Amino acid sequence: MPWHRKHLLTLEDLSLSEIELIHAAAASFKKVLGRRVKRVPALRGKTVVNLFLEPSTRTRISFDMAAKLLSAEVISFDAASSSTTKGETLRDTAQNIQALHADMIVLRHACSGSPLYLSRVLDIPVINAGDGAHEHPTQGLLDTFTMKEHLGSLKGRKVVILGDILFSRVARSNIHALTKMGAAVTLVGPSTLVPEWFTDLGVKVSHDLRGALADAEVVMLLRIQHERQGASHFPSLGEYTSMFGLNKTRASWLNPRAIIMHPGPINRGVEIDSELADGDRSVILEQVTNGIAVRMAVLYLCAGGKPENVMPVE
Ligand code: CP
Repeated sequence: MPWHRKHLLTLEDLSLSEIELIHAAAASFKKVLGRRVKRVPALRGKTVVNLFLEPSTRTRISFDMAAKLLSAEVISFDAASSSTTKGETLRDTAQNIQALHADMIVLRHACSGSPLYLSRVLDIPVINAGDGAHEHPTQGLLDTFTMKEHLGSLKGRKVVILGDILFSRVARSNIHALTKMGAAVTLVGPSTLVPEWFTDLGVKVSHDLRGALADAEVVMLLRIQHERQGASHFPSLGEYTSMFGLNKTRASWLNPRAIIMHPGPINRGVEIDSELADGDRSVILEQVTNGIAVRMAVLYLCAGGKPENVMPVE
């Protein structure tokens, strides 16, 4: 299947075939990462600017590594020392970066819709690295890629997403990808953070943690997004943990083969206990590693790379 997109803005936009195409390209790039010489020339001569206006560890570093492994030049924008602190707008900042001959912009921003906005005012590809509570498409792609590595096809697989769904861009991107891939998704958490209207997206909503976990083949924990919550949605963190935190007792309700996921950053002892985050069923660090191959695939395809030319597999 050909790839026609210049930008990656949402997973809501993508078809199942497009998601599968990115996963297939990521699988090829992952094989390359296992070699002694990992760098490939696909983006030689191109410059990728990581325009991160919100904090990030995993996404920023893995986009940086992905672009470098594709032989691009990478410039990481330092928001704190930039002219945004003098009032320069996002549009002006991005248009100036384009005028400086950047070939792609990877944007993280607190405002939902900011990557879509930039895609309309720039000529170069824009990749969404997380916009407000809207979407985090490469996270959804790397999460579903990791699930496929463990479970094979996700058709009919039972995935529980547990935590602050309302303010989570990771949840939204995963919901769009997982429902297209045929998974049965159940959202669990307090009703203030998991409102019933999420069922409009083709998922179940449950406040019965034990029942949901007993069925799950994957449980994905999400942290409480304090930075996006204008008001408190539960009495205290301690009460949230006592009702919904994943601890050893609750993990015993899971199928022994179920995997435990978290996009990070983890708040240990809040949404998940350390012994589970670090335990045998946790694939949290695999998710992080897979972020490199998935982001290589996204950068490659959005830069105009042909899917059929994606790395010789052997
Ligand atoms: N998962 C994720 O987006 O992590 P960072 O905020 O560290 O990039």
